[in-house]
This record gives sequence, C-alpha cells and structure tokens, in this order.
Amino acid sequence: LISRAFRRQFIIPEFQEFCKQIEEIYWKCKENTNGKVASYIPQLKRMSPNYWGVSICTIDGQRFSIGDVSIPFTIQSCSKPLTYGIALDLLGSDVVHKYVGQEPSGRNFNELILDHNKKPHNPMINAGAIIICSLIKTIARAEMSLAEKFDYTMNYFERLAGNDDLGFNNAVFLSERECADRNYALGFYMKEHKCYPENCTFKECMDFYFQCCSLEATCDQVSVMGSTLANGGICPLSEEKVLKPESVRDVLSLMHSCGMYDYSGQFAFKVGVPTKSGVSGALLVVIPNVMGICLWSPPLDALGNSCRGVQFCEELIKKFNFHLY
Ligand code: DON
Repeated sequence: LISRAFRRQFIIPEFQEFCKQIEEIYWKCKENTNGKVASYIPQLKRMSPNYWGVSICTIDGQRFSIGDVSIPFTIQSCSKPLTYGIALDLLGSDVVHKYVGQEPSGRNFNELILDHNKKPHNPMINAGAIIICSLIKTIARAEMSLAEKFDYTMNYFERLAGNDDLGFNNAVFLSERECADRNYALGFYMKEHKCYPENCTFKECMDFYFQCCSLEATCDQVSVMGSTLANGGICPLSEEKVLKPESVRDVLSLMHSCGMYDYSGQFAFKVGVPTKSGVSGALLVVIPNVMGICLWSPPLDALGNSCRGVQFCEELIKKFNFHLY
C-alpha cells in the first residue's frame, strides 16, 4: 500500500477528494426519511429506521466509512450472491445452472413461480437461493452435515471479508423460520416439481437458507466482501484468492440483471453496476475493478430496496462515471 502511495498508483488517486464527495452524498441522503422497516420478520421490525452507514473498500485496500458502519445487521439476501458464488466454485456453472436459471423473474422476490422449465428464475430470489443452498452439500465427495455446511459457508464469507469474524443472529433465524410460510410454500412447490438434487434433506436445506440470511456483518465488513468481488475474487486485504474469477463473473452478471428485486431493470439502466439488496436495508454494491461499497439503512421502498441506499447510488452515478456503459 505504501509503495503504491508513493508512486500515486491508486485506483482512485485523489481518494481524499473522492471521500469528501461521498460524505456530501451521505448527508444529503440522511435527510431522506421515506420508507418502512421490513416487518414480515418480527425481529427485523425492531431495527431503528435511523441507522445509516456507508463503507467503501477499493481493490487496492483504501477504505472510507461514515455513519453506522460498525453495527452488525443480518445480511439477508446479500447472502444470495455469496452462496451462489460458493456453489459455482464447488460445482461449476454448468452443473449449478441445471437447477436454476439466469433470467430476471419480473416478480417479487418471494413470488410463488418457476420459469418455463420449472426451475427458479435465478439465484438472487428466494426460490433460487433455496435451491443453491441445497447444492452446497459435498466437498471432496464427502457429504457435509448441516453443522459442517454452516461452518464451511461462514468461513467462506469471513474470507471474503478479509478474515474478519462475522456473527449469527439466532433470534432472527428463529423468527424467520417461525414466519416462513411463504418460503416453505416455495420449498414444497419446488419439491413437487423435482427441483432439488438427489438426496436433498428438505428441512435441512430450508434451515440452511434461513441461517445464511441470519448471518451478521457490519457495513465495513460487507464493503470488503464487495471489494473481493470487484477484484475478481481476490480479497484486497488478505490477498487470498477466495473465489474463482469465472464464478465472480457469473455472480456479478446476475447481480446486475436480478439483484434489486423488481427494480433490477431500472436500477441497471440508471445506476449500471452490479448490486444486491436485502430486506435488512443493506445494499452490496460492486464497481468492478474499482471498489466494493456497502450501504445500510433499514427503511425500504415499496419494492423492498433501501430508500437511502437507492438514492445514494443514483447520486453517486450523477457525480462519478461508474455506470458500466
Ligand atoms: O427469505 C426471506 O424472505 C428473507 N430471509 C430474505 C429476503 C430478502 O432479503 C429478499 N431477497 N431477495
């Protein structure tokens, strides 16, 4: 880092100046009090609507954060691109996509529908992520128990975050499982249509899905995960190769087209960078070859995306030319 600093070879050379602009956008978005905190999972409803954090980690390890960046939240659907990445690393794209498609569903994230082939539309919606959870089951031909799968996945997520310790919110997990009528309905509907791989234990698969949603991280940590994705799978802090570059390419492609619920098309048009949102109010934003950003503010708009988070992205693209096209 220091030798690059002397040579002024950073990916964002005027980083201080850049951060000042980020700060301005942060304060502007803070005034936005639109939206409602998700209430369909009782434990999520308890989140304060006032939390607002922004963290940035560039692919050469420069960092900036402002606001509530050290308070852990459950990553919810921001886990979906990550579990998808793990499945791709384990099995390769051809095998994974025998079970799940690559098409935006054009519907809500928990809608009871499958595509024309009777597969979930993509891994970024609940149905697809549940199937992805059923695919993460063996390493080196050995079947993993639920406990081993949890450890294995947690460890992967921690390596994506530069070997930082993540948390698990048991209350959110229990609350999710308790109120999961729709997810169970989706699970059974997919069972009826034989969407799962052989020998899949349905109950374990559902529990594993709820557990992945209930993993806890801070804005700072999620920004590092984003920078690992921005950097082709190599974590800029630990320099470890966590995901294969071809897995990262697939992950980013589907985050780009399907990552923002039923706002994905408009978001790809207006903002133009791969992003995934979660009902806890988090946005995992990846600017390929530049940086990862995490935005966190619990109040959501009608489509389920963080109001401040979406506004931040739109303001960012007005100021800087990060749109991929
Ligand atoms: O399964 C659910 O409904 C939540 N655990 C996660 C939902 C979420 O963040 C939306 N995802 N696409």
